Amino acid sequence: MNLADAPRINASILAADFVNMQADLARIATADFVHVDVMDNHFVPNLTFGPQMVERIQATSPIPLDVHLMITDPDRWAPGYAELGAASVTFHLEAAADPVALARTLRARGARAGVAIKPGTAGESLHDILGEFDQILVMTVEPGFGGQGFMPETMPKLRALRDAARRRGSNVWLQVDGGISDATIAQAAEAGADTFVAGSAVYGADDIEAAVTRLRHLARAASLES
Ligand code: DX5
Ligand code: ZN
Repeated sequence: MNLADAPRINASILAADFVNMQADLARIATADFVHVDVMDNHFVPNLTFGPQMVERIQATSPIPLDVHLMITDPDRWAPGYAELGAASVTFHLEAAADPVALARTLRARGARAGVAIKPGTAGESLHDILGEFDQILVMTVEPGFGGQGFMPETMPKLRALRDAARRRGSNVWLQVDGGISDATIAQAAEAGADTFVAGSAVYGADDIEAAVTRLRHLARAASLES
């Protein structure tokens, strides 16, 4: 199987052991991407790591990087993450001054351009500019922390984005992040997600490889039914 094929499982290292990062990156080698949550303690009330750490993760990870920027002023900082080699860089719509210009800059720097929306942010404003992005991240928890409960009330806007993409013949990836587990992944897949971020469901499993495979199978079965 081509690892870039949907459904994609992106393992979030927010749930990894930060002082054993190299070993914890090796443990998720069968996931499609390593999801890297950059938090600045300003856009969200939590602090993780910045470009220096992400550069080391890029050098060490067996799989490509999916960087999720939960930071203020992504217009200024996001291009640097594309330059250090991240496969995708996703910034928050709520934080960007000029989302379309930023997405174009990210693509020009060689990354897939992603835009994320918080649970309370409507998705309609993205429908007519879907072509500017390679992936859209519908947050299924309030950004900031791992281990929170999945918010099913975000599913209608995911469905609407999926329908908008279908109408326009867009192949934009639709990603969900937060509370994704064996119990919730099917609803997100059925609503149109093709890319699933999972932190605690992956790192909390006794057998990580089996957990990734199981999530992928559950997502595939649900998307075939929808
Ligand atoms: C939350 C982060 C998520 C987090 C998800 O703000 O964006 O990527 O790691 O963690 P789980 O899968 O535990 O909800
Ligand atoms: Zn994330």
